[in-house]
Amino acid sequence: MGKMKAVVYNKKGSPEKLIYCEMDKPVPKNNEALIKVHAVSLNAADYRSMKAGIIIPKKGIFGSDISGSIESVGKNIKLFKPGDEVIGYLARYGFGGLAEYVTAPEKALIAKPSQISFVQGASLPMAGLTALQALRDKGNIQKGYKVLIVGSAGGVGTFAVQLAKYFGAEVTGVCSSKNIQQTKSLGADEVIDYAQEDFSKKQNHYNLILGINGNYPLLDYKRTLAPGGVFVMIGGSLSQIFKSLIFGGILSFGSKKMKSMMAKSNKTDLEMLSKLMEKGSIKPVIERLYSLNQSAEAMNYLSKGHASGKLVISLE
Ligand SMILES: NC(=O)c1ccc[n+]([C@@H]2O[C@H](COP(=O)([O-])OP(=O)(O)OC[C@H]3O[C@@H](n4cnc5c(N)ncnc54)[C@H](OP(=O)(O)O)[C@@H]3O)[C@@H](O)[C@H]2O)c1
Repeated sequence: MGKMKAVVYNKKGSPEKLIYCEMDKPVPKNNEALIKVHAVSLNAADYRSMKAGIIIPKKGIFGSDISGSIESVGKNIKLFKPGDEVIGYLARYGFGGLAEYVTAPEKALIAKPSQISFVQGASLPMAGLTALQALRDKGNIQKGYKVLIVGSAGGVGTFAVQLAKYFGAEVTGVCSSKNIQQTKSLGADEVIDYAQEDFSKKQNHYNLILGINGNYPLLDYKRTLAPGGVFVMIGGSLSQIFKSLIFGGILSFGSKKMKSMMAKSNKTDLEMLSKLMEKGSIKPVIERLYSLNQSAEAMNYLSKGHASGKLVISLE
């Protein structure tokens, strides 16, 4: 059996619990492709599971968002052949991206457009799908909507600002002063520095609010919605997420609705996002590239909660 380098979760490894080591190269089952990973991006979901020591992937290898080239395929794989370049979202299929090789079923993979680099492709899946599904499916975004994006500067937020503009909305982002210029450059019409101003104290009202980061009272969000408006809880502090899950339904009385969401693995959506990236309608914001043996350092930085855009591990 061949060997590969991988980054494996180990409870005893501290503080990041991620160990760079050698292990067996995976062998694809009949319904799987073996992918040589060229790039993998990190998500807040990775470090949250890792720090809590829960929802650890079966082989202990995190990394849901990959791009790479197909090395070999199981006999039931119809859509891909060796050499094809792909983007994969592995969150529903065992993760495993922080490694030189990973296996995945066809339904986790799309063809990578040649104009998108491997690093750009790996930045897309979880953050892009979350932003798209929150705006379109939960928020029913319409042209001309006033949209508030609380947490506009991270992985999800940077895609959310651009997608909301793509859908024709008037966008206000909320971030810290160091990211104001970045949020503006992504197309936001207005940016609120959360250290200087409380968005809920301004007299503005929004048709759609995405709660991506931070910790704000649910009633502040509700007060800031326009009549008929929708608040979508995506992430942020754990207490805010729990309160939203418990009280969101109760607070949805009247015309203002409070919703939670969980991003879905969806090939059509991922293809739509990759085409938008190919056309230049959305661009990835990548703060820093790391090598595979720097994964623990990258995860540690991400867990501080202030990465600008995405952190990507490049194996090229
Ligand atoms: N529901 C789902 O399906 C789903 C899917 C993906 C992610 N999530 C959740 O969504 C959240 C964001 O994920 P991510 O990958 O985008 O995280 P991330 O990249 O780590 O987010 C970092 C960003 O958060 C911003 N931030 C920190 N404190 C803030 C505050 N008080 N107000 C506004 N912005 C603040 C930072 O901006 P500044 O440096 O400017 O403060 C930074 O740019 C996480 O909680 C994650 O677990 C949920």
